[in-house]
Amino acid sequence: VYYLEYDPLLMLPGPTNVSKEVYLAMIRPIINHRGKHFRELYVSLIEKLKKVLNTKNMVIPLTASGTGAIEAVISTFFKKGDRILILNHGIFGERAGQIAQRKEIIVDYLNAKMGDAVSPEILENHLDSNPGKYKAVYIVYNETSTGVTARPLESYLKIAKNHDLITIVDAISIVGGDFLYVDKWKIDVCIGGSQKALAAPPVISFVSVSDEVLERTRDVNPSSLYFDLRNYIRWYEERREPPATPAIPLFYALDKALDRVLSEGLANRIQRHVAAAKSFYMALEDCGLKILPKRQYRSNTVIAVKTPSNIKPSEIIRMLADYYNIHIAGGLGGLKGKIFRIGSMGDINLQFIIRTLYAIFDILKRLGLDIKTYEAVAKATEIYNEVIGNGDKGR
Ligand SMILES: Cc1ncc(COP(=O)(O)O)c(C=O)c1O
Repeated sequence: VYYLEYDPLLMLPGPTNVSKEVYLAMIRPIINHRGKHFRELYVSLIEKLKKVLNTKNMVIPLTASGTGAIEAVISTFFKKGDRILILNHGIFGERAGQIAQRKEIIVDYLNAKMGDAVSPEILENHLDSNPGKYKAVYIVYNETSTGVTARPLESYLKIAKNHDLITIVDAISIVGGDFLYVDKWKIDVCIGGSQKALAAPPVISFVSVSDEVLERTRDVNPSSLYFDLRNYIRWYEERREPPATPAIPLFYALDKALDRVLSEGLANRIQRHVAAAKSFYMALEDCGLKILPKRQYRSNTVIAVKTPSNIKPSEIIRMLADYYNIHIAGGLGGLKGKIFRIGSMGDINLQFIIRTLYAIFDILKRLGLDIKTYEAVAKATEIYNEVIGNGDKGR
């Protein structure tokens, strides 16, 4: 069977758990997407996305997963022969490069080791020694494959702007879970997704677009029709509608999820993510496991853990699913077979953390590791409550 009798606990780096309130928001009539009710929903959704991204720029929701939004950005703003620089921290940086290369855009990478991030000095030196070479810099803010948050993001963006480049940020696995200031940090194009730290179902993505990027790329003839972002903006300005049929139930759901984000408040939400990540890192390390990213780049939304050499991550993942109905992810690309990844975002709370940690420790014990389960889980609880202050109010 492809469904489960009981709700799974999704501790994946996306999709994440969706609250009943958000699910129920989808049980509404399919409405005319060319009528006033949809227009109201569309405008409301866009205004809320602007708040979450801290921007006054236009934000375009798309009926597509994050990859679709990346395709939209590449095909709207770049043409054959343009050259972009990607700060490469893992699979999702590489994939953006592949998308661009399919459109005959030239891609250079500044590579970091797995678990590390490119230093701002390296970016600065590279751009200084290659004046006028690039049209844009592309940065994955939270590299989901390695659990690395590019903490120097603001520095990268300043350097890129000093070199007069267009700035593109993939914030898909971090928006709603950590600091993100599109206008203040001068992000020309910011890409987000519904199914991660915003705790909505897949598949809506969204893109914020600055006036500057629109102005500077006027000469590009978009290579995609469905993913022509200029067309979405034209339609919005003229009719407050998207050019093609949207996934109406998913729009209801994301709108409701954004209400929850805004009523919690971004600052509280980020603090909750910090608390959760800290308690995961502390408990896992306390039990002798090693965290993949360098300490200063550890993500607050994706926890990437090295597995002891005698244990296969696929076994841990399978046993967690079979015994506990808890779902985590393995490594991607070169990290396959070496790490497991826990999504700690969206509606993450103490219950989810305790259940996940207890289950992981139990499985590791069954696989032969000597672990003091209760102590580690108790410490995780302590840390979470300490960071969150007076508790997470049962979320
Ligand atoms: C950083 C990042 N970029 C892009 C994607 C691709 O998004 P999607 O799977 O929604 O197409 C993901 C998905 O995990 C991601 O984490």
